[in-house]
Amino acid sequence: MNEIIKNKACDFVIFGINGDLSKRKLLPSLYYLEKFKYIHNDTNIIGVSRSEFNIKDNINMIKKSLLNFLKEKINNEIWLKFSKRFKFCNLDVYYSDNFIKLKKNINLKNKIIIYYFATPPNTFSYICEGLGKNKINNNNTRIIVEKPLGKNLKSYNYINKIILKYFKEIQVYRIDHYLGKEIILNLLALRFSNILFFSNWNNSIIDSVQITIFEQIGIEGRSEYFNKIGQTRDMIQNHLLQILTIITMAPPLSLNINNINEEKIKILKSLRRIDYKNINENTVIGQYKSGIINNNKVNSYLEEKGINNKSNTETFVAIKANIDNWQWLGVPFYLRTGKRLKKKIAEIVIYFKNLPINLFQKFNKNLLQNKLIIRLYPNEGIEIKILNKLYGLNNNYKLRKTKLNFNFYGKKNIHKPDAYELLILEAMLGNQSLFVSCNEIKESWKWIDLIINGWKKKKIKPIIYKSGTWGPKESDILIEKDGRKWNKYL
Ligand code: BG6
Repeated sequence: MNEIIKNKACDFVIFGINGDLSKRKLLPSLYYLEKFKYIHNDTNIIGVSRSEFNIKDNINMIKKSLLNFLKEKINNEIWLKFSKRFKFCNLDVYYSDNFIKLKKNINLKNKIIIYYFATPPNTFSYICEGLGKNKINNNNTRIIVEKPLGKNLKSYNYINKIILKYFKEIQVYRIDHYLGKEIILNLLALRFSNILFFSNWNNSIIDSVQITIFEQIGIEGRSEYFNKIGQTRDMIQNHLLQILTIITMAPPLSLNINNINEEKIKILKSLRRIDYKNINENTVIGQYKSGIINNNKVNSYLEEKGINNKSNTETFVAIKANIDNWQWLGVPFYLRTGKRLKKKIAEIVIYFKNLPINLFQKFNKNLLQNKLIIRLYPNEGIEIKILNKLYGLNNNYKLRKTKLNFNFYGKKNIHKPDAYELLILEAMLGNQSLFVSCNEIKESWKWIDLIINGWKKKKIKPIIYKSGTWGPKESDILIEKDGRKWNKYL
């Protein structure tokens, strides 16, 4: 067994074992943790679902999920060991008496118990009540809950109150899977281990920052969830704001979770309010219509199964944010994210200011603006755009653009761990530092609520954009009116 998890046998309970998250992410991640020997020999995985089950069907469902979502073939030896860990329990989370069945399947005395809530957010309070009333929560238990927690500050506070009625803050692991991505972890390393990116990391040399997360996929059958939530709550409230705070926070006192959270919260509190008064200048929302992606015709949002044809839910959002503190005043942060776009792209682009004097004017009218690109997808890595002298005797000081390009994984055929692998492992180890604190979520809802209420108050409807494009033209205008452009992709 891997040294670092010695003596951490646990009962890992998944509420919603048959759901999409479990099939797509949790089961494959647990398989890889098994493969790389991170799971204690005595750990069991307990799948909870509402429907009556038969063990054979459930084991087949797990195997099928692995066949669909592993990046490699299932290895028989690993599968044998992995599949023996499973137990199943059917219960209806809305009835707290039902939880007695679960109690019989877990070892509260001698093991760490992890409850993973892979169910819709409206079930969270019932699960907490069920666990609490039946006393299947003690100091050895931890819960993992998925974003978005609530729909706004009010509903978040309600969920949180119930969670904290039965669990202490140190038992609560609020997942934002972007925090488990290698490149996001690397952002801390990049910023705080290199003086190059440490000093001057502020408005003295940084001009603006763009954070883009574009997807080609639509809502993937999640109509009930997505139509109530929309892209802003699904992506901005969590993933994009997490990235924004990690890029901009001041150096924390240490890597301790409390010190990091303290700095992130300061940033969230310094975000300039966007409300109905300035919503038009600072935001654009869109919704996809049909179009072509990778040579395939795709339906419009309104044609998705389960969506009513009058839905105004946004599937695209672009926001110009400002941080009103000493470090970042005057630097705009352009955030954008959307579904059914031309390419899957996730990146952070830091634009540096132009030098005040161009010494090379005789040979180069303009100097290129330096850019630092942190790529989350594709080709996780870091790229720096700089200028250097064109090689040769005749070229005087003709300059050319060069890229310093670093691919995080190189060309080696190594396993790239999914964010969920790391986050599940960290929860097993009892390390909360890659999870989101209660106050961070509160602050982010405060900012997001104003924006969403602003759209409502001003009756702003999403602009229709064609699937397979870069989203509504108005998102270009949002940045172009500031004399800037979105980073271009081929
Ligand atoms: C999830 C959202 O949190 O993140 C999804 O609910 C989105 O709508 C997904 O597709 C994107 O994650 P990734 O890791 O594929 O960029």
